[in-house]
Amino acid sequence: EKYSYGIVGLGVMGRNLLYNIADNGFSIAGFDLDNEKVKDLENGATPNMIVAGTDSLEEFVSKLEAPRKIILMVPAGNPVDAVLQNITPLLSKGDIVIDAGNSYFKDTNRRVDQLAAVGLHFMGMGVSGGEKGARRGPSIMPGGDLEAFGLLQPMLEAISAKVDGEACTAYMGKGSAGNYVKMVHNGIEYAIMQLITEAYDLLRKGAGLNNDQLYDVFKEWNNGEMNSFLIEITRDIFQQKDDLTDGYLVDMILDKAGAKGTGKWTSEQAMEIGVSIPTIDTAVTSRIISAYKEERIKASQLYSKDEIVKPENAELFIKEVGDALYLATLISYAQGLALLVKASEEYQFEIPLKDVVKIWRGGCIIRSVLLEKFYLAYSKDENLSNILLDQEISEIVKEKITSLRKTAAFAVSNGISTIGTQTALGYFDAYTTESLPVNLLQAQRDYFGAHTYQRIDREGVFHTSWQSANN
Ligand code: 6PG
Repeated sequence: EKYSYGIVGLGVMGRNLLYNIADNGFSIAGFDLDNEKVKDLENGATPNMIVAGTDSLEEFVSKLEAPRKIILMVPAGNPVDAVLQNITPLLSKGDIVIDAGNSYFKDTNRRVDQLAAVGLHFMGMGVSGGEKGARRGPSIMPGGDLEAFGLLQPMLEAISAKVDGEACTAYMGKGSAGNYVKMVHNGIEYAIMQLITEAYDLLRKGAGLNNDQLYDVFKEWNNGEMNSFLIEITRDIFQQKDDLTDGYLVDMILDKAGAKGTGKWTSEQAMEIGVSIPTIDTAVTSRIISAYKEERIKASQLYSKDEIVKPENAELFIKEVGDALYLATLISYAQGLALLVKASEEYQFEIPLKDVVKIWRGGCIIRSVLLEKFYLAYSKDENLSNILLDQEISEIVKEKITSLRKTAAFAVSNGISTIGTQTALGYFDAYTTESLPVNLLQAQRDYFGAHTYQRIDREGVFHTSWQSANN
């Protein structure tokens, strides 16, 4: 008896995705070199599931029906190439290999070509939602070969999260579009997480809130228009007690951030193809600064800060911080989505932006009720270049912008580091300014390097022999 699907890599994510697929009535085989993981898989399966595990790659491949549909759940980078090297000789023409890790899109392009040369399909597929998502319904971002996608579609729709009965999965475009969309998802994830930490810092240092009060504030936020996965888990974090001391766990965690690279790739990409995403950039850079803990300690002693001038009206302050967070979050999505628009042109991905925001509404880490509004915006205009240009979105922005300015001003005047919030505002102000002072910059470039400039009153390219006052 043959199995419909196969999964390579039975770590927690691989196992959970496998169970999810099996729960939905698809037979599936799992492979891992580690026999312990194979045993764990079989022990954890329920009677309704048709699953098999093996630590032999040959046996695994022979168990799969044609065309084979094999999902890779191994860490991005060399492990993917290692699996491909071992498995490719065992496969037959028309088989499909789907990489469900956070692979770099350029690696996927290379692998697509490499496997196409021997008649195999290779697809990059973003999966978001962490361990629980994989088990109960993630957001799934597949891209690449349309025919191969068609074979997977019913299964992907069955296992993904649902919003209003609609599956949180859709075809994200050609080539490595699936990985690209997931990369940008993670860039936005970095930005929102950074913004939430800044709001937390403002509330604890500015308004003096303790963890119980922070819990209440985040609970209220999550119950309203800011309802989202990241606000929800942040609420819960403020409640978690520490097992080792009497206090709260969050207070015992060292303030040094880790990162696996997807945020950095997003920033590098934006620079490479010319898109401004400063809030994502600063989210990456904030994690980097945080790692220099010892230097930060020395610097904080050298440049001690004045005491914070507390806000006059704490309640109003909390509301403004919430509105600022809401708007800065919206602006972060705007930056990430603008990157997708440009990348879609640049790499001929043909990314359907409307479907991107649609499938981000559930299952993924950046799911939020805000995405419903973006979905409406793209439903009206699929070619919207930036969501800030949508009429309805502009109404929200106008309602919140004063809070963002006041919050940013409070942070700046009190020396509370809020570079994510500042860059969201800075981006907004630049993007919404008709005449930037870049006329002067162009003059400087032409002055020292004859780089030329354009004029506002006539066509053409100009160069001036600029006069120095020194002569
Ligand atoms: C998701 C997450 C997931 C993972 C990130 C974390 O969508 O489920 O984004 O992919 O948690 O890779 O990335 P960092 O380790 O870089 O924070």
